[in-house]
Amino acid sequence: MSKKSQKFEGDPNTTGHEWDGIEEFDNPMPRWWLWTFYATIIWGVLYTIAYPAWPLINGATAGVLGWSTRADVAAEITAVEEANAPVNAKLEATELTAIAADPELNSYAVSAGSAVFKTWCAQCHGSGAAGAKGYPNLLDDDWLWGGSVEDIHATVAHGIRNEDSDDARYSEMPAFGRDELLEKEEISQVVNYVMSLSGEAQDASKVEAGSVVFADNCASCHAEDGTGDREQGAPNLADAIWLYGGDYATLSETVTNSRYGVMPAWNTRLTEAQIRAVSSYVHQLGGGE
Ligand code: HEC
Ligand code: HEC
Repeated sequence: MSKKSQKFEGDPNTTGHEWDGIEEFDNPMPRWWLWTFYATIIWGVLYTIAYPAWPLINGATAGVLGWSTRADVAAEITAVEEANAPVNAKLEATELTAIAADPELNSYAVSAGSAVFKTWCAQCHGSGAAGAKGYPNLLDDDWLWGGSVEDIHATVAHGIRNEDSDDARYSEMPAFGRDELLEKEEISQVVNYVMSLSGEAQDASKVEAGSVVFADNCASCHAEDGTGDREQGAPNLADAIWLYGGDYATLSETVTNSRYGVMPAWNTRLTEAQIRAVSSYVHQLGGGE
C-alpha cells in the first residue's frame, strides 16, 4: 500500500524513484560543487602531464617537468658526501691507532661506522654485533684473528677464506672424520678432551687418550693448552666461548667435517674511509684491544 505522493507548491520535480512512499527530488547539483568537480578533473589531467603518472610496460610516463624522487635522493646524497669529504679525507690520512685519540674524528668514525655496520654487517653478525652460530660475536674480547683496530681493519678489508682477495685471512682445519685422518673412537676421545678444557667431559674415561690425540693433531693450530692461535684464526678451545657450539654433538661435527667460515672482502665494496669507520666502531664495542 503506497501513500499518495504529497507535492507542495514550489517543490522541484521528482526523479520518479520511490521507496516506501519516500520520493527523490530531482535537484540540480550545487554550482560550487559542480565547479570543484570539474576543477579536479582538469587538475588530474594536468598533473598526469606534468608528473610521472601513467604506468607503461617498463616504467611510467616521465612527465614534462622531469621530476623524479631518485634524482632528489641522488642530489641529497651528493650534498652529504660533499659535506663529509674533508672529515673522510682526514679519517683516511690518520693512523688507525690515532683515530681514537681525536675525539671529534673518533665520534664521526664511530657513528659513520655504526651506519655501515647496520647496512653491511648486521645480517651476519647481528644488529647488536653479538653474532650467531658460525658468525663471531664482536662484542667480547675473544678474537679469532685479533682485536686491535689494525687487526680488525685487515680482517674487514680483505675478508676471511674468500676468493676475491689474495690477502684474505686464510687457514683450513682438516676434516678429520670425513678425510679419515682420525678413527671415530679417536674423535670421540679428542672431543671429550676438548670438553674437559672448559668444563666437564661427557665421558671422563676418554680424556686421557684424547689429550694425546690433541697433542698430535690439534696443538699445531689450537696450541698445546688449547688456547688457540690468531695467526691461523684457530679459536681458543679453553674459554667456554664457542663459535659453533661446545656440546658433544656439535664438537664431533666440527672435528669430523671441519667448518671453513667465510667472510667477504669489503675493500671492493666500501671506501677506505668506510672500512676505517666500521673498524673503529667494532673496536670500541667492548672487546677492542
Ligand atoms: C656473509 C656473512 C658476513 C658478513 C656480511 C660480514 N661478516 Fe664478518 N665474519 C663472518 C664470518 C663467517 C666470520 C668468521 C670467519 C672465521 O671463522 O674465521 C667473520 C669474522 C669477522 C671478524 C673477525 C672476528 C675475530 O674474532 O677475529 C670481524 C672483525 C668481522 N667479521 C667484521 C665484520 C664487519 C665489520 C662486517 C661488515 C663490513 C662483516 N664482518 C660482515 C661473516 C660475515
Ligand atoms: C690447520 C689448523 C687446524 C688444526 C690442525 C685443527 N684446527 Fe680446529 N680450527 C681451526 C680453525 C681455523 C677453526 C675456525 C673454524 C673455521 O674453520 O671457520 C677451527 C675450529 C675448531 C673448533 C670450533 C670451535 C668453536 O668455537 O666452535 C673446534 C672444536 C676445533 N677446531 C677443534 C679441533 C680439534 C679437536 C682438532 C684436532 C683433532 C683441530 N681442531 C685441529 C684450525 C685447526
